[in-house]
Amino acid sequence: MKQALSGKERAELHRALPEGFLQIDAAFHEHAGRLAQAAAGHDGELVAFYSYRLMDGCIRCHATYASGKFPGFGKPAGQGHRH
Ligand code: HEC
Repeated sequence: MKQALSGKERAELHRALPEGFLQIDAAFHEHAGRLAQAAAGHDGELVAFYSYRLMDGCIRCHATYASGKFPGFGKPAGQGHRH
């Protein structure tokens, strides 16, 4: 894709998005990249680990920033989790 946003537009977009959203988004992309690396390296255990981290990112972000769309996600994931 060609540079669709100018530097100024990009700065405006980042101002409009809350800091927490950008952090979750950045972590999400990081985990997605590591998951791809683990899969390429045929490391099943690492794939499982980063799959979990990735799904946790979906849930955390939706619970915080899309609760209207996903009303079931009242609390952040991971709380009260027991084995
Ligand atoms: C950094 C934040 C963030 C992450 C991470 C994220 N989402 Fe979302 N997602 C959103 C927001 C915000 C909306 C609500 C958009 C709206 O209101 O239309 C949404 C909406 C959705 C929807 C509903 C789309 C619709 O048309 O109603 C689905 C399905 C979805 N996300 C799946 C996922 C999955 C699966 C993952 C993980 C693999 C994920 N998302 C990760 C922020 C995120």
